[in-house]
Amino acid sequence: MRKKIVAGNWKMNKTAAEAVALAAEVAALVKSDVPSNVQVIMAPPSLFISEVNKATEGISNLSVSAQNCHEKASGAYTGEISAPMLASAGIPYVILGHSERRQYFQESNAQLAAKVDAALENKLTPIFCCGESLELREGGEFLAFVAQQLTESLFHLSAEAFGQVVIAYEPIWAIGTGLTASSAQAQEMHAYLRQHIAGKYGQAIADACSILYGGSCNAQNAAELFACADVDGGLIGGASLKAGDFITIAKSF
Ligand code: G3H
Repeated sequence: MRKKIVAGNWKMNKTAAEAVALAAEVAALVKSDVPSNVQVIMAPPSLFISEVNKATEGISNLSVSAQNCHEKASGAYTGEISAPMLASAGIPYVILGHSERRQYFQESNAQLAAKVDAALENKLTPIFCCGESLELREGGEFLAFVAQQLTESLFHLSAEAFGQVVIAYEPIWAIGTGLTASSAQAQEMHAYLRQHIAGKYGQAIADACSILYGGSCNAQNAAELFACADVDGGLIGGASLKAGDFITIAKSF
């Protein structure tokens, strides 16, 4: 059985007080409403991770994640946060390779391979994002493009290390646009990626890998997306900023 995961990427939103309030609301609702086999994750801005992490105490299916980390362990990298720092603060997950990082911070597949290594060396679970632009979708090469992202950033890993990775497929054209991928489009990509993983690591490891969908996933469309055989949950942006909507999504399996 694959892990069902709903992760909320708060991106660059919320003040300190708002972050604490949202985390408390989410924590209370996870406790009362979300089945224990669904892992809920909050990824607040890095400044608030430790404070938000306190709200997860004693709730086994609620965790926090960073939105990024640097590939080096320490040094003169002003403004950056490393994987050992996150680990030392008790942070279990880190989102890597979000399309906004790739686009605005020029993160390459090779750099992301190094970030994945840094995360795994520090026992952080990477939530590795992949996805194609509208141009690639319309050009028809989107399946091969996304598979290549996995190959170049993940396929250097041993089978054991790969088994620790969570994948999030996020078509760039669906992020923050209100244009969700149809359940058929999501299923097609997720099944393709699973097959690609099986080709490298074997069917058992592919079958155990959680592949999340992200891109305008909300309280209305989550159930249809999560009903797809190869969709194991969601990476949620906008809809994770309201506790009620986020928890409705977490209950949509
Ligand atoms: O990380 C989350 C994704 O970028 C999805 O964002 O749900 O606002 O479209 P969105």
